[in-house]
Amino acid sequence: MITDNSPNNASLHDDMENVASNISGNTHFSDIVNRGVARRSLMKGSLAAAAAGFFAPSALAKAAGKGNGKANGKAKGKPFQSGVDAGNLVTFTPVSVEQGSSNARIPHISNDYEYQTLIPWGTPLVSGATGYDGDPDSRPTADEATRQVGIGHDGMWFYPENNRYSDFVANGYQLSSTRGLLVVNHEYGTNGHVLGKAMPDSLEDVRLSQHVHGVTVADIRKARGSDDWELVTDSRFNRRIHVNTEVTFSGPAAGSPLLQNLAGNPPMGTANNCGSGPTPWGTYITCEENFNGYFGSNEPDRQNDSAQDRYGFSNNGFGYGWHLFDERFDLANEDYANEQHRFGWCVEIDPFNPDAKPVKRTALGRFKHEAVAIKEIKGGHIAAYMGDDQVFDYCYKYESRQPWRNYIRRGESPLDDGRLYVARFNADGTGEWIELSVDNPKPFKDGKTLGDMFADQAELLVFTRLAADHVGATPMDRPEWATIGKDGEVYWALTNNGARTEPNAANPEAPNTDGHIIKTVDRNSNRFNWELFFLASDTRGTENVVTDPDAAWADDEGRLFIGTDGGQPDGLQDQLVVFDTTAPGKPEPKRLFVGVSGDEITGYATTPDYRYAFINVQHPGNGSPAATNFPAPDGSGRVPRDCTVVLRRKDGGRVGS
Ligand code: FEO
Ligand code: CA
Ligand code: CA
Ligand code: CA
Repeated sequence: MITDNSPNNASLHDDMENVASNISGNTHFSDIVNRGVARRSLMKGSLAAAAAGFFAPSALAKAAGKGNGKANGKAKGKPFQSGVDAGNLVTFTPVSVEQGSSNARIPHISNDYEYQTLIPWGTPLVSGATGYDGDPDSRPTADEATRQVGIGHDGMWFYPENNRYSDFVANGYQLSSTRGLLVVNHEYGTNGHVLGKAMPDSLEDVRLSQHVHGVTVADIRKARGSDDWELVTDSRFNRRIHVNTEVTFSGPAAGSPLLQNLAGNPPMGTANNCGSGPTPWGTYITCEENFNGYFGSNEPDRQNDSAQDRYGFSNNGFGYGWHLFDERFDLANEDYANEQHRFGWCVEIDPFNPDAKPVKRTALGRFKHEAVAIKEIKGGHIAAYMGDDQVFDYCYKYESRQPWRNYIRRGESPLDDGRLYVARFNADGTGEWIELSVDNPKPFKDGKTLGDMFADQAELLVFTRLAADHVGATPMDRPEWATIGKDGEVYWALTNNGARTEPNAANPEAPNTDGHIIKTVDRNSNRFNWELFFLASDTRGTENVVTDPDAAWADDEGRLFIGTDGGQPDGLQDQLVVFDTTAPGKPEPKRLFVGVSGDEITGYATTPDYRYAFINVQHPGNGSPAATNFPAPDGSGRVPRDCTVVLRRKDGGRVGS
């Protein structure tokens, strides 16, 4: 059991995710309850949190109830079939190991494909705004960064133009494939990359770091007479959301004292925006993952309590140093004692309403949210599948209580009224979704119900990880993205777990250095079947070698796209590979794209016609121009910059085929 979770030199988040914080056998739940009560009595008066959702367009009300409402980018009908049979969906010439390992300063792509780069870090989103082009001798100002694309491109989605909720509900994705809003997460940039130095010297430095985190909404279009895409500068939809953007809370924990500070500061910001997911009603969910790392303490001998330990808070955090100049992130400042509870949520953004505040949906729980995959289930309800990315953490599901269109029609949110579950995987290929509710009558550890452990549902949600510990969820090998397959099955990328010493059926390798993918199929709300879809170590020594599966997206014909994050074998860099899930026998990943030194391949979005795919090259060269200058020309000396890469088949065919 690993109990040291206060690493000090932390620029690479994966190091943090590889440190276990799950010491559930030793956790004392009475600590939480007592502390919650103590904090409540500390509150100065009442600070009612805004709990309103942002849905209210009248057009929406009219349109709700029509349309197919399929989530996860599955178009109504089949707008652009590849004309191939199941089992033969992936026919492109893969990048060979020899090609892919030849020069790590530049990317490599299948001979059947070509790519362009789009909206790198520092791209001005407003005409006349100052950009940042990777000059190693300068950096943007904090103010300039609020009008530029951020860094750490990760989860994203493409929202076809003129696609209001009403259009969306009525038409799904059968809309423009030549213009739309690309919404992109900015997970993180290290101080070395963003500031050009290890630690901030001023509040200005901290603000720059904060402003490159968050989300970009970028209006993009096909350039006239070209296959290339371009940013529409000055579009009224172009928008930056960052760590100092006002947000609101909704759902069961919205009004909780656990989300209010003595300082009375309004809820602001989203951070470490990792993966994402589109909703059937046309909005974007961004997921807050390693939020703990931005907090630190100005009292070096400050002690965490067990609940905060479970979320990985430590005196130095990941070494960003925000707490040195911004008291909001100082764990030792009692006026901001609950600021740390305001992060770790799924956050909903309406890309078509630039004035709407992002909404933190507390019903989906608080943990290191990697990504979310939403689908419509029986009766028109929605299910949302979510991984908590840390070694020995869990797979979660949320289900709305009513059909999602009912909520939308009433101007409410399907994400505010539902049941949260955590997964237990049995050795026989079955599994249980255990409801995380104070009303769940079942006794768990020590004969105690969740109602015995938590004062109310708000407290349970703020400390979701501890609730999941209590009910005996199955500790997994770092659940990253989940995605919905063509028949509604769910693929879970489990990236690796070097700390595992005891294998079990669902996590069969110890240590698990290469990762695996599990497929689940729900039998009903409370039960599922599962099987091992892919064991990455099986590809060692083969031409299809791939490890550390992370980003995941499946199309409606049965292709599964996987982006990797972790040193790849045989001299390869991180990759995008494609599986044909309809093929018989062992799944064979085909290598479509290989990134550059130090990077990670993540995010996936597609145009409705499937001719263009968007992926992200994250932290190229880990920020070092000595490693790569991508996306600037090799040899230019520029600081490498995170960017989106647009993929297309040279013959205009469907991406992945
Ligand atoms: Fe942000 Fe777990 O990857
Ligand atoms: Ca990831
Ligand atoms: Ca990862
Ligand atoms: Ca990452």
